[in-house]
Amino acid sequence: MTSATSPIGLVKEVHGRLLQASDNDYYLPADQDEHSRLDMQHRALKLTMNSLYAQREQVKETLSRKDRRTALLDVGTGSGIWAIEMAEEFPNTNVTGIDIAPPDVLSRPSTVLPSNCVLKVADGTTEIKKYHEAFDIIHFRSAHLGMPNLARILLEDSANALIPGGLLQIAHCVPVVLKDDLSAYPVTDEGQPGFTFYPRAFNRVLQAHFKKARVKVEPSSSWHKWLEQSPSFERVTTEEVLVPLGRNVKPLSDTERRIRNLYSKNMANVIAAFGPLLLEDGLDDDTLTTWVQGVKNELGEEGSVVGYMGWRFTTATRTITPVEPLGSEPEVDLTRQTYDLYLNRKAGEYFPK
Ligand SMILES: C[S@@+](CC[C@H](N)C(=O)[O-])C[C@H]1O[C@@H](n2cnc3c(N)ncnc32)[C@H](O)[C@@H]1O
Repeated sequence: MTSATSPIGLVKEVHGRLLQASDNDYYLPADQDEHSRLDMQHRALKLTMNSLYAQREQVKETLSRKDRRTALLDVGTGSGIWAIEMAEEFPNTNVTGIDIAPPDVLSRPSTVLPSNCVLKVADGTTEIKKYHEAFDIIHFRSAHLGMPNLARILLEDSANALIPGGLLQIAHCVPVVLKDDLSAYPVTDEGQPGFTFYPRAFNRVLQAHFKKARVKVEPSSSWHKWLEQSPSFERVTTEEVLVPLGRNVKPLSDTERRIRNLYSKNMANVIAAFGPLLLEDGLDDDTLTTWVQGVKNELGEEGSVVGYMGWRFTTATRTITPVEPLGSEPEVDLTRQTYDLYLNRKAGEYFPK
């Protein structure tokens, strides 16, 4: 499935979906269906947070300078929707979104980007280090799966590319479905007590991913610590947000219903999106179809799942200290920990305060 020689920006067809074709470990598609899914996820998050970003006051203060235009880099921009909406909200900010695959929106003739927004094809593992003190904010949302050496990219490359006082923002979901009481739905096989499709299917996704990819960690529980220990950053905060999904158990406002519907649909589509990876890993077509339909049913308004998915939003401020070379990547093999989270932890244990 990997192609070591293809340049970035190319896509290839794998099991009926278009995936980026370069020598990168990112296994979700780069097609219109995937960008529509990402847009749904984006809209659900925006409605849940009532904002495009965490640490609202800090972001507004950072981007709303009177003395000069400001600059923002969105790494792994996907469809480009976050970058475009940030450019609309902050007309005094030059927004650049980069992605290893071309954002689908650029292929539509009707697309008009805001004049302060550029979307371009570039690899975050090499592109960020070309800049020095160039951005007021660097933002990553769910972009780490295609970035081995994430610690170096955050603590060296991004630190170098940020203006002192600028912000690094990293967001990622903890891929565990939580029940209404915030305990995790367990990973079990069909027919076993407590079985639901999503944990079963996503557990198989993790197994397939960890087998193939160089990114061996689910690092969202590490980066807060990395940033706190780095002399290049200060004022590190992590906000946790619970996005509701699945069946409704109490009367909902229109907004709550929209969030639930958008996020549930996103979840069913994400299993389909990992289809090429699962099929390459030996899963058969019928099981994949059953899992996708099963997730769709159990997360529907009449389904069996009632719960949440947690998202982490970490923000850190660039200090004035010159960037020190990181040396080796921090040793964090969280593969094991991810499985533990999946199996039996209580939500409070992986939403540390
Ligand atoms: C899960 S999507 C998230 C997209 C967007 N940030 C959002 O939240 O909607 C991750 C994106 O990261 C991109 N990506 C993966 N590896 C990358 C790399 N090394 N450099 C740039 N983009 C990368 C993928 O192509 C994909 O569009």
